[in-house]
Amino acid sequence: MNKQQLVIFDTTLRDGEQSPGASMTKEEKVRIAKILEKMRVDVIEAGFAIASPGDFEAIKAVAETVKDSTICSLARANKKDIERAGEALKPANSSRIHTFIATSPIHMEYKLRMTPDQVVDYAVSAVKHARNYTDNVEFSCEDASRTEFEFMCRIVEAAINAGANTINIPDTVGYGEPGQFGETVGRLIENVPNSDKAIFSVHCHNDLGLAVANSLSAVMHGARQVECTINGLGERAGNASLEEIVMAVKTRHDLFPVETSVQSEHIVPASRLVSTITGFPVQPNKAIVGANAFAHEAGIHQDGVLKRRETYEIMRAQDVGWHANKLVLGKHSGRAAFKARLEALGIKFEDDDALNAAFARFKELADKKHEIFDEDLQALVSDVSASTAPEKYGLVSLEAISKTGDKPQASLVIAVDGEDHAVSSDGDGPVDAAFRALEELAQSGAKLKLYSVNAITSGTDSQGEVTVRLEREGIIVNGSGADTDIVVASVKAYINALNILESGMVKAHPQLEGV
Ligand code: KIV
Ligand code: ZN
Repeated sequence: MNKQQLVIFDTTLRDGEQSPGASMTKEEKVRIAKILEKMRVDVIEAGFAIASPGDFEAIKAVAETVKDSTICSLARANKKDIERAGEALKPANSSRIHTFIATSPIHMEYKLRMTPDQVVDYAVSAVKHARNYTDNVEFSCEDASRTEFEFMCRIVEAAINAGANTINIPDTVGYGEPGQFGETVGRLIENVPNSDKAIFSVHCHNDLGLAVANSLSAVMHGARQVECTINGLGERAGNASLEEIVMAVKTRHDLFPVETSVQSEHIVPASRLVSTITGFPVQPNKAIVGANAFAHEAGIHQDGVLKRRETYEIMRAQDVGWHANKLVLGKHSGRAAFKARLEALGIKFEDDDALNAAFARFKELADKKHEIFDEDLQALVSDVSASTAPEKYGLVSLEAISKTGDKPQASLVIAVDGEDHAVSSDGDGPVDAAFRALEELAQSGAKLKLYSVNAITSGTDSQGEVTVRLEREGIIVNGSGADTDIVVASVKAYINALNILESGMVKAHPQLEGV
């Protein structure tokens, strides 16, 4: 079969980040972008430049660092958004502006309060304006799966005439069904007279669990770009997952008329990095990247796999990077080995102070834990960068007492703006006691929305990685912390969430506002 190229457009740093609580710092975005580049992702949507100064700076930093992938910024269909995107993308070797406007009757009438004619005018002006900054312009019809077909043909034709070279068909609300969605994309390509001048793309949300199926069906009908995220991260039920799209195309090369450039052995390390940074754990039975994805428990399966792997396995675990993380550092490893291993993981420090801080943490950890795996290093670096975020609160010391028959107690010393405060409380367990004590001190008024503990590696000496999600007045933040002591990890995560909440970083949401 003569294969065509399927462009992989990763939006983990933009749509993925729109997941409540998944916001990332500039440094974290750069780390993820570097692994995406190494993986040979074609386009990295690094953010939504006008959303916040932080997003603008992150896009700029990604554009400065990543040279082999095209860097993209989202922009609504208006001048200000596009100018901001163009500005952020200036350092890129290859840049793209992705502009969008809603095209479904319900969005045009109630959200935009615009007539269809006005929407077409906005789309055309936006695409033309974006072409002043780059010759690589993508146009999206937001809520395409609920858009009238004739109108979609009209606006797509106009956008291509205005200079868009990628046309994206988003299933914004996850309403699509594979047969119908794929067919619509196929009919669009057939009916739009200038469709040969653009690549057709899809961007599917997973509200009905169909994001990957819808995307792949569209590929069968002519789409040649898929927008996706690592681990399927994204708003509500998430976006189509990059790893599932890439591995479906690779594994079923007998069916799909396309191939991707993605080097799949970087998938698992990328998945772990995104999970560590965002604090969103990967469910064990998640396809490709879940801990059980290649575990054959049933005796009959194990027997078959041992005799011949292909009896039950359709992919090789090492092809997606499952066994890449073998290297172990220990107590006696030096600074050079530590630095070299981090560089191999795509982690570089801005200066010697940052490296020294991380190395000191590594030594502390190595005292508690004999073998340090890549996952430990990633958690450790995230912990260090979390602790360099603006810090109102800091953990000085913690004592937790848990005794059968007695109420658990926690006593903490917390630095608040540099001044030590002692607090204590009891609770239903040592973590509950520690959180109560913290809240008594901070009086944040935030509600605990999620508390999760994940063992980073196997074994009882594993570090526990804790995610704490807090909500206050509609603002949701995720804090993370890792330690071999899970009460300490929990307190670190709670403090991290409080610090993020205090820093007041709130972003505009691209779909909540009109143009
Ligand atoms: O889901 C969506 O419609 C989007 C667009 C901005 C492409 O994320
Ligand atoms: Zn989206």
